[in-house]
Amino acid sequence: MLIPRPVSVEWGRGFCNARSAEIVVEDCPQLPDEAYSLCIKPHRIVIGASGQAGEFYARVSLEQLVRQFDGRIPSLIIRDEPRFPYRGAHIDVSRHFFDKEVIKKQLRMFASLKINRFHWHLTDGVAWRLEVDAYPELTEGVDHYSKDDVREVLALADSLHITVIPEIEMFGHSEEVLAAYPELKCPVGSRHSGEYCIGSEKTFEFLETVLSEVAELFPSEYIHIGGDEADMTVWQACPRCRERMRSEGLSEVSQLQSYGIQRIEKYVNSLGRKIIGWDEILEGGLAENAAVMSWRGEEGGKKAASMGHGVIMTPGEYCYIDSYQDAPYKEPVAFGGYLPLSKVYSYDPAPDDMPGREFVMGVQTNLWTEQVPVPEHLEYMLYPRVFALAEIAWSPAEGKDYEHFHARALARLHQARKDGYNCFDLENEVGERAETSGKLEHKALGCPVIYGTPYTAPYVADGDGSLTDGVFGSWTLKRDWQGFLNVDMVATVDLGQMTDIREIKADFTQWRTAWVCMPVEVCFEASSDGTSFTPLGTELNEYDLEDLRPAYHMFSWNGETSARYVRVTGRINERKWGWLFIDEIVIN
Ligand code: ACM
Ligand code: ZN
Repeated sequence: MLIPRPVSVEWGRGFCNARSAEIVVEDCPQLPDEAYSLCIKPHRIVIGASGQAGEFYARVSLEQLVRQFDGRIPSLIIRDEPRFPYRGAHIDVSRHFFDKEVIKKQLRMFASLKINRFHWHLTDGVAWRLEVDAYPELTEGVDHYSKDDVREVLALADSLHITVIPEIEMFGHSEEVLAAYPELKCPVGSRHSGEYCIGSEKTFEFLETVLSEVAELFPSEYIHIGGDEADMTVWQACPRCRERMRSEGLSEVSQLQSYGIQRIEKYVNSLGRKIIGWDEILEGGLAENAAVMSWRGEEGGKKAASMGHGVIMTPGEYCYIDSYQDAPYKEPVAFGGYLPLSKVYSYDPAPDDMPGREFVMGVQTNLWTEQVPVPEHLEYMLYPRVFALAEIAWSPAEGKDYEHFHARALARLHQARKDGYNCFDLENEVGERAETSGKLEHKALGCPVIYGTPYTAPYVADGDGSLTDGVFGSWTLKRDWQGFLNVDMVATVDLGQMTDIREIKADFTQWRTAWVCMPVEVCFEASSDGTSFTPLGTELNEYDLEDLRPAYHMFSWNGETSARYVRVTGRINERKWGWLFIDEIVIN
């Protein structure tokens, strides 16, 4: 049936020929703003709603039913309303540009999923994408939206009950601005730094002028001001920024950022609007009326909610769909991580036991586009994961059932492809790495490992027992992989007694985008006393160390020997550059 799943469906008897049936809209003032009822009887369809949004969502559901049942819909009554008022999807158009038609096409799909916020990431270090009359150099020589393009997108969004929230990044991620207007950066720091100088009044003149044009163009209550990942060391070194800190009585650079955000907030409030920022805006003191978008996990969101601020949950682990959605070896190169449909679906932005959950306005998925160059690829990353986001944003937490959702997602993907969307092939999903599904029995299981080189935080896996725990790493680098930085990986397994050995294996991965490379070779050695080792064999690496696509390989030796100690050496490249990642040494 529908995505997102409605609150309740009661099936009746008989069928309705929906294409010829009379449609009646009844005013139901008792219903909340976006809620609706949809009563389908033979010959008659009755929509109940208190306003335009509810009626719109009733028609969205009806349209889906018409398509699904090819016009002949079983009698039914749907009662429905959203769990959260903010149901968002974000697209980064700075790293790669997607023109207005591509954006409008995605808005149509978003609306059909009852998503009601589009967070348009218009500016970032790679390029500024919004025409600004006062500062034409911002968009000189790059693809961008004219104000008329934006108006066209906004008109469509309005008809689809989608609010477009523009993002103007500050005070970091602004290399593109500083390249055009170098007077806005600190007079220190590297040529490449992307931080505005908060000590300079010119910065505020610039940002306020830009924001006034943005507020004139976009009707949204909220304007997103970024706030993430500024390199605050630049401000520490800048005489102007230091002078600002002195005159404002600030002791930390995070307070300087907070000073900047609070000043911008006052300006945005004076335009009759409010700000949203990434969760870094909590550092150094949160601006008075700001809403917080929690992306570095949920902590920022929880903290802001506990302070009574509005929160949008978008933790990377569940909501960042620039990561792989299936086995990375078969997918187009992605930014990193593994986020399958099931994991997006599993997320609950406001569980019952969360303090301050009433301040959670909703949830959002983010698509950053460093690795997403063309519209087909954009859609491939979006669908079906946006389906899952739409459902966790709209449908009640009770009654969640992934298998049921999965079946609906397959049907909906079929429709989306007919409408010309390029979607991920969910039907042939490989799923999580098979090796992770249980604990592997082998002769080294539970045996102590003596490290010849140290593993490096944060990639410690489960510490010293990790390479002989029978547990393999997932497609992501986060779980069960142990990392060795800029050194060989040397580990000796103590089997406790002389043991007949037929096979030794060592499982490595390569994630070039995260500077993780296959070892150039893996050497296997044996010893009876732990001091004098005999070489058994070496397997040379066959992967291209520059290939950006993740790879997984079990280096191995097969033969016959008897030993108490087995030493495995993964040799790092000649430059001694990057990480070696291993999850298990298997001895049989
Ligand atoms: C972010 O992903 N830097 C908000
Ligand atoms: Zn400065």
